[in-house]
Amino acid sequence: MTVSDDRAVLVTGIGQLVTCAGRGADLPVADRSVPAEERLGVRTVAALVVEDGRVAWVGGAASAPPADRRIDLGGRAVVPGFVDSHSHLVFAGERSAEFGARMAGIPYDGGGIGVTVAATREADDAELRTLLAARLAEARALGTTTIEVKSGYGLTVRDEARALRLAREVTDETTFLGAHVVPPEAREDRAAYLDLVTGPMLAACAPYASWVDVFCEPNSPHAFTEDESRRVLLAGRDAGLGLRVHGNQLGPGPGARLAVELGAASVDHCTFLDDTDVDALAAASATTVATLLPGVEFSTRSPYPDARRLLDTGVSVALASDCNPGTCFTSSMPFVVALAVREMRMTPAEALVAATTGGARALRREDIGHLAVGARADLAVLEAPSHEHLSYRPGMPLARALDL
Ligand code: NIG
Ligand code: FE
Repeated sequence: MTVSDDRAVLVTGIGQLVTCAGRGADLPVADRSVPAEERLGVRTVAALVVEDGRVAWVGGAASAPPADRRIDLGGRAVVPGFVDSHSHLVFAGERSAEFGARMAGIPYDGGGIGVTVAATREADDAELRTLLAARLAEARALGTTTIEVKSGYGLTVRDEARALRLAREVTDETTFLGAHVVPPEAREDRAAYLDLVTGPMLAACAPYASWVDVFCEPNSPHAFTEDESRRVLLAGRDAGLGLRVHGNQLGPGPGARLAVELGAASVDHCTFLDDTDVDALAAASATTVATLLPGVEFSTRSPYPDARRLLDTGVSVALASDCNPGTCFTSSMPFVVALAVREMRMTPAEALVAATTGGARALRREDIGHLAVGARADLAVLEAPSHEHLSYRPGMPLARALDL
């Protein structure tokens, strides 16, 4: 956000303001005691005042207080900026040929990650910094105001620490993913690679990371088993990092249960969950969020996660992009919201909450993902009269982060 010298900025002419902070906004979605629209905190002909980067006042445009500066949005809708709690933006190269082959029938198994690792190791810092900045600008241009960024395409001490150092230059939400896959040079000795990840690599990366993540996927020969994943997560926790898990992406597996067992903030993908997994996630809804990444199912032509079952069982759900060169090369949160509504049967209100407040919960942040007084003034403006247009007009560039 560009911060000006003005103390108070009045943002007015908001045709529809969605704060995601209405009555009962903190209740689980499955709790039907407050209607979804009311929770959404929708106001028409609204205004808000921003002071020092925070929301200072919310109300009707007619009763707005005076301010140093005024921005009139001409009847456009405003929603909280999207909180994209899962991305892999530090990488070089691209894998369009792999995507083409997949569309011709070759399934995804994580093997292509090695291609991106090789390209990323080759790139110098300046090149990676430029690529990262361009990808962040793309996300912001479509309404994302907070984004988590993982390492995972370096897989040496030097290259993982470098990825996190560069990511830390642009976001506080940085995640160490040295356990993305076992790199080609370590295939003969997985145990030695795990020693590296949980020892010197973690030590070099922890100063730049807030989180540790692991690709827990027994269905991929390249990823990590339950025991290996537990070891990585516990080492990360000992180093002071919060926990996140890639789980249940390619088939049934232990990822979701492990995330709950260890009190992880989020388990991401959740494409293949059984009843035990769903019950465990529902019981842990105050701690562990199920983050759905439907852009991955779109780009890998896979079945979508059963979002309705999760929501109706009381699981805490977030939506994120997973932007990466292999399984989903888009950071468009409006696209993710549209997929969630059309393909996963979430209502537009549920999808918007999951892409804002849900992402904030997945990052354990209370200052973002909603527009109550005191929250960060991270606003997304829609070139539309209402939030439903995000899924009603898929593929259109309707959302942008508002520069104040
Ligand atoms: O979240 N599943 C593991 N990691 C990424 C894909 C990475 C890649 O294929 O480059 C994901 O889908
Ligand atoms: Fe991912």
